[in-house]
Amino acid sequence: MKILVINGPNLNLLGEREPNIYGSDTLSSINEELREKAEKMGYETEFFQSNSEGALIDALHNSRLDCAGVILNAGAYTHYSYAIRDAIAAIKIPVVEVHLSNVNSRDEFRKTSVIAPVCAGSIAGFGKYSYHIALDALDYRFSEGRK
Ligand code: DQA
Repeated sequence: MKILVINGPNLNLLGEREPNIYGSDTLSSINEELREKAEKMGYETEFFQSNSEGALIDALHNSRLDCAGVILNAGAYTHYSYAIRDAIAAIKIPVVEVHLSNVNSRDEFRKTSVIAPVCAGSIAGFGKYSYHIALDALDYRFSEGRK
């Protein structure tokens, strides 16, 4: 089973971008840790990052062809992209919304997620472990489905 991990705008700059908020790990080191954990759990992983809304939408569309689930940090698109929301709604596989920071304790505009209603669930505020919790959540969902 394959899980696609998608990161949106500005997350390519993790490590140097506002480290007091997002931590000092780079996206590639976060991805590598997640890949190792997923492998131990028996999952294949694929990683994709883009700063462009359309490319993120294409990645979501393509995931439906060969992935069991998606972990998505849509960055600021979370707060206003109806196009990404519709792409998530269009695919049948579960998408878990992830944020490194606790979006509910920051600026007002970050408290709105237009994608949350169409996601399987949302995890925020645990730094890079938000991705690990999302992986556990998908694994739990899959195991429930197997029962
Ligand atoms: C973020 C939170 C968003 O509000 C912000 O625009 C990001 C990162 C997070 O991971 O905490 O780019 O998604």
